[in-house]
Amino acid sequence: MTHANHHPHHSKPKPREQWGTRMGLIFAMAANAVGLGNFLRFPVQCAANGGGAFMIPYFIAFILLGIPLLWIEWGIGRFGGKYGHGTTPGMFHYLWRHPLAKYIGAIGIAVPFLLVIYYNYIVSWTLAYSVFSFTGKYAGITTFQGMADFLAAYLGKVSNSHFPTIATAFLFFLISHGCMLWVIAMGVNKGIERLVRIAIPMIIVLGIILVIRVLFVGTPDPSMPGNSVANGFGYIWNPDFSTLKDSRVWLAATGQIFFTLSVGFGAIQTYASYLKPKDDVVLSGLATCSINEFCEVILGGSIAIPVTFAFFGLAQTQAVAAGGAFDLGFFALPIIFQKMMFGQIFGAVWFFLLFLAGITSSIAMAQPIMAFFQEEFRMTRRTAATIVGIMTFFFTLPVIFFLKHGFLNELDFWIGTFALVVFAIIEIVLFIWVFGEERAWKEINSGADLRLPRAVIRIMKYVTLTYLSVLLVFWLVQDGASIFLMKNVSAADYPYIWFARFMIVGVAALMVFLVHIAWQRKHHIQRRVPG
Ligand code: PHE
Repeated sequence: MTHANHHPHHSKPKPREQWGTRMGLIFAMAANAVGLGNFLRFPVQCAANGGGAFMIPYFIAFILLGIPLLWIEWGIGRFGGKYGHGTTPGMFHYLWRHPLAKYIGAIGIAVPFLLVIYYNYIVSWTLAYSVFSFTGKYAGITTFQGMADFLAAYLGKVSNSHFPTIATAFLFFLISHGCMLWVIAMGVNKGIERLVRIAIPMIIVLGIILVIRVLFVGTPDPSMPGNSVANGFGYIWNPDFSTLKDSRVWLAATGQIFFTLSVGFGAIQTYASYLKPKDDVVLSGLATCSINEFCEVILGGSIAIPVTFAFFGLAQTQAVAAGGAFDLGFFALPIIFQKMMFGQIFGAVWFFLLFLAGITSSIAMAQPIMAFFQEEFRMTRRTAATIVGIMTFFFTLPVIFFLKHGFLNELDFWIGTFALVVFAIIEIVLFIWVFGEERAWKEINSGADLRLPRAVIRIMKYVTLTYLSVLLVFWLVQDGASIFLMKNVSAADYPYIWFARFMIVGVAALMVFLVHIAWQRKHHIQRRVPG
């Protein structure tokens, strides 16, 4: 029984927290968006999909999907905040006065929750590697296979002289987990806003330092004049129009835009709910995605690929990228840094940059469930943070211990690739079609410092929606069936993959159930309040 039930006159909740300054808001949103996606996922996607060829569908998706969805989510978020709701169940409830709306909104809590349980584990590796680089733990390992063995042992996939057990990885997980919880427990202003004011400038400065270092690499091996940094940049930037015929490149580019801008997850809406009702959405939204694109294309694009190209050449770079998300950041770069003067320091800087970018994104993923408990269950910040901490801890355990069975990859496919497209479609339908074009347009533009042409809402309503729907169908046809039927999974891992799916469905069901309880209690409270 909550305090409010005994004292109906005091049942008005405390005023919600709000971003202190406009800069705080922009930095917080930028810290939400700038993450591992910018520095690890982008270069890998770019290299694996033809370098410069990738950038054309990438920018098209940025303009037609990324920015429109960003404005939509900021609009929905600020709208919900006015009604005291920082998560999508409450937001959807007001967009569509239908009993189903709040349950659909449960996706916006389940998805970031399922994301943070594996994302923050990866973030903890970056912290560990920053320490390893600094202390020289992997010094002397100069081959890909060597670094791969090192990572495999760290993750407990094998046991060797580097790491006999998974204990080190677990320890770093606990540290990252603690950092994340501490910040959300401190609150929006004293926790998140204070951190991002330091983190964003630091990410940018560390990124620039690394880029400058990369620019001076030149041609490391004079007997291989083709392997130069200049050619590495050429590889990213020279467009190759022929790949535009390949639908996979389009899918990859669109997936990257979603992931890097954090759209389709439910995380932006929560941060946007802490805007003041008259705060500008249009220009601030543009400012944060400019910071994100700077960190992604300029910084992220200028570090890993050009330097790998310079040291290993084209074929190797493509092979590394094809190897998956971690080969570039965790194998190639540690080897390369060892070939430089002060390599231990540069390596530590690289991984610490990843850690800063990553942990501030983890915080953004944990904030929706935090806000949900605080607002819909009227918990104090401390109680909410404790429960979030316990839940995320337990749900991360299978990710850690079943990693070698493809557990993390399975989560990443459904959550980091598939769910967000579905959720984005739902948002457009609810906000622009159901809530209404006119009202949605007003929500986005209220308090705007920049006047948008009316065509923008039409683009959102038709172009963005059609684009996403076509994409979803392509996805299902091209990858969906083979992934669902586990074509690339060895039979021994089937139970783990099913367990991952069971967990996804279970978490979604749990969130629906929590929404149900929260709304029942609300009803109860309202009836007791006189007048
Ligand atoms: N945008 C983040 C990145 O690039 C990931 C993220 C997704 C953060 C969803 C918050 C919510 O790594």
